[in-house]
Parts: sequence; C-alpha cells; structure tokens
Amino acid sequence: RKLMIICGGQSTEHTISRMSCTSVLKNLHRDRYELTLVGIDQSGEWYLLDASQEDLTLDSWLDHSTHIEDIYHLLKQQDVIFPVLHGQYGEDGTIQGLFELAGVPYVGCRTLASSVAMDKIYTKKILETVGIPQVKSLYVKKRYDGQYVVVNHQFDETDDILTAVKNQLGFPCFVKASRSGSSVGCYRVDHEEDLLEILHQAGQYDSHIVIEECIDCIELETAVLGNDDPIVSRVGQIMPHGEFYTFESKYEDEESKTCIPALVDANIQEKIREYALKVFKAVDGHGLSRVDFFLDKKTNQIYLNEINTMPGFTKISMYPQLIADLGITYSDLIDRLIDLAFD
Ligand code: DAL
Ligand code: MG
Repeated sequence: RKLMIICGGQSTEHTISRMSCTSVLKNLHRDRYELTLVGIDQSGEWYLLDASQEDLTLDSWLDHSTHIEDIYHLLKQQDVIFPVLHGQYGEDGTIQGLFELAGVPYVGCRTLASSVAMDKIYTKKILETVGIPQVKSLYVKKRYDGQYVVVNHQFDETDDILTAVKNQLGFPCFVKASRSGSSVGCYRVDHEEDLLEILHQAGQYDSHIVIEECIDCIELETAVLGNDDPIVSRVGQIMPHGEFYTFESKYEDEESKTCIPALVDANIQEKIREYALKVFKAVDGHGLSRVDFFLDKKTNQIYLNEINTMPGFTKISMYPQLIADLGITYSDLIDRLIDLAFD
C-alpha cells in the first residue's frame, strides 16, 4: 500500500507532532508500505522529506527535502494517509476535509468529530446531551474589540466575567484556550486579580476560552480503538510532577510518570471505560481517540476532561502504552489504524 505519513503542522503542537512521528516511523512495519513522508513547517509549507531519517525532532529534519507544489495531486496518488498531526489544522477537521475532497482514506476521526473534539466548548455542549458528567464551566469569547465576554450556551453575552467566575466557579479556576492541546494556553488562576491578565494570555491562542472550576483530582486516561465497534483500554493514571499536567511536565519532566492500570477502585475504572466509549460514540469517533477524565479525590465523582482524536504517539505517550497493555504492540497498532481507515 502507498502510505503517506504527515508530520509537523502549523499548530502550537508542531514539535510534539514531530516527536510522535519519530516514534511512529521507528515502529512502522516498513516492509508493508511504500512510504511517502511529508513535513509541514510552521508557516504551512509542505515538503517531501527524506523518509530514511530516524529523528524528525532534529533541526535538520527539512534537509534534503523538496517543496511540494501540488499537494492535492500528491494526496490523490496515495492509498492511505496517516496524519500524525496535533492541534489546529491537523486534528481539527480542516486537513481531514482536504483528504475527503481528495477521496483518500485516512487514519482517525472524520471532519465533524475532529472539529468538535478539538474545541473544548463544543465537546462540552455535545456531551452534556448524553449525560457525561463535567466540571462546572463558563464559556468566554474574545470580541472583535478585544473585550472578553461570558457567553451562555446560546452564545448570547451575559454577565461580567469576574462576577460570573466568582459566583459560579470561585478561585482557583482553570482558564483554557478552547481549541488548543498539550496544555498550551491552559492556566490555573489562583487570585481574582490575575483573571483578566490570564484571559489575555489564553486569548493569544484562541478567541474562544473556557473557564473551569478547579477540583482536587486525579487525571485518568483511556484509549479507544475502532470504528463502529470500538474497544477500550484499561484506565491509565497520570502522575504529574508539579501542580498539573502542563506542557513541561508532559514532555520535559522526567519525574512525570504514568501508571497502568490506575491506582483507583475497579468500579470507578469500569465506569470510566463505559463513559469513554459513550464519548467516542457521541462525537461519532472513527479509528482512535484518547478520552481523558478527572476523578475528584474527595467525592470520587468522575468528570470528563476532554477527548483527543489524534493523541500523542511519543515514546512516553499514554495512548500507545494503553493499547500495548491490551496486548497490541505499537507496530500492530499502526497496522490496525491503517486498516481502520478503509472501513
Ligand atoms: N494533544 C496531545 C498531543 C495529546 O493529547 O496527547
Ligand atoms: Mg487535548
């Protein structure tokens, strides 16, 4: 099969994509595919890469590459595409729309599921309708004039932000860019006088922002694999070194650890697995997703955190580890994902 793997991209998770892709290439059954390796740089230019390189995280990743002039033509020549891309223009339905137009099968969720799952606000709105528990939150929009306003579920403007946060969520709270990943644009706000400044920071990443109640919680993750009859992994636990699982603790802190299965009650894990499948189906997932939860340490209440339709595939990432725990090796996982692209 002619397989195109795409990495990089224009999002804030560009470097993570190159880390993920390095792991995918290391584990790919190369003898089974005729590989075309494509890199997208941060300005959105596409390049045909030297597919024999082993470490795409190096600054030299674009050496010996050639600029691609006719992307559409190249896409149409493929049997299948694996976009190992995270975040905006990679995981949000836009590039998936291009693959749909080109009529080429591709790994992962379709356009609608990708865009819903990329947007924390719309994920919440959809999952409310199927009864998935979620922490209290407020939606905020940055208006054209630079003002931040709370919007209700119909996106009408409501209260002043500070009053709404104080009355409905309290401090500390979390401020998150709605369409971001890897904890980029995600901040904990401890004091009300910092709220507006932090909203401005999150607003650098997205005009839609979600403010969430802060609970003392354990972070738990599950891997879903499949199309109409997906399977779900056991539950993994994040052991962040630091106050929460930030970008740095995810990718740069050797002390951050993961644990499979999670160190929580078996009934809770079963409930989480049930929710994970429900979430995947509710957004009409396809291929794969990692579904993340919070468990309130005091009340044992489970809450959805988010769904990632192209979860990290780096060597420390939870998704391939959770699937390996099911007895499916990383290399077999890649084959399965590619097979699922055709259903
Ligand atoms: N957005 C990152 C890659 C993840 O969810 O793993
Ligand atoms: Mg995410």
